[in-house]
Amino acid sequence: MDVVVVGSSMTDLVSFTQRQPRPGETIHGNKFLMGFGGKGANQCVMAAKLGAKTAMVAKLGKDFYGDNTLENFQNVGVNKDHVSQTDEASSGVASIIVSEDGQNSIVIVAGANLLLSEGDVAKATELIGNAKVVLCQLEVPQATSLAALKLAKSSGVFTIFNPAPAAENLDADFYTSCDILCANESEAEMLTGVTVSDVDSAQRAAEMLRSKGCETVIITLGERGSVLTSAQHDGVLVPVSSIKAVDTTGAGDSFIGALAYYRALMPTLPLLDAVTRANTVASISCQASGTQSSFPTASQLPKDLMAAPVNH
Ligand code: RIB
Ligand code: NA
Repeated sequence: MDVVVVGSSMTDLVSFTQRQPRPGETIHGNKFLMGFGGKGANQCVMAAKLGAKTAMVAKLGKDFYGDNTLENFQNVGVNKDHVSQTDEASSGVASIIVSEDGQNSIVIVAGANLLLSEGDVAKATELIGNAKVVLCQLEVPQATSLAALKLAKSSGVFTIFNPAPAAENLDADFYTSCDILCANESEAEMLTGVTVSDVDSAQRAAEMLRSKGCETVIITLGERGSVLTSAQHDGVLVPVSSIKAVDTTGAGDSFIGALAYYRALMPTLPLLDAVTRANTVASISCQASGTQSSFPTASQLPKDLMAAPVNH
């Protein structure tokens, strides 16, 4: 497999409104859609849509949402041999409000995702150990994500960790078990205590994260692009061309899924170029509503994004 994701899957229930409601307030929305989401599945589907061979290790409920999600994995070509259903919890759902400025707020009820265990990771040892890239987030138990990252790392697999949703007091081993840590402003802030509001503060937060042990840190800054920090990259801002955002839900997942695709299928593409390309893929996803449904396929992208790197 090119990309294996050990992580979450949700059904997104999305309401579109003029603005976000205030506490105690009821407002009218103007559109509703139901779609496939969850940070893990989103990242996996993004990589698959670009052409990666992908697999998910995930837990669903034995219900309508779970059945539909399995069908979706099948339709988009994500291997689901390690996706199981439990009758002990319902499938994960996310209630999402997208306002006219393209911003969103999300409540997740992770349900069955929280039953994805270290035992499930152990059952997928062969799959994880033979992947080119393994991706993890924090919508399943932390111990499960950490076990997957450690297993991958010990087999020499390239690992990308997305500490989302934001969590405090992460096990210190997370930092030494990932090759790339990719976080947005609020996640970086939660992990470091640095208020991330611009390139400068992103660089400071990234250095703190690097000092905890991760080689490469990418902090995504929404419409401003992302900041890349590693031994070779001194907190470089990788800008992204401006677009009119319709729905930014899952843009971070689109970025990470695309980044995983480039690491797995174009390993000689310099990281800075991979980040530049992934920025563009993510910005394209913001121009359509929905999460996975807004992710572009390889054939919908400008040719240069899919072009093989020129090696000197
Ligand atoms: O990152 C976006 C995702 O967060 C949504 O698809 C929703 O399911 C939540 O997990
Ligand atoms: Na979108």
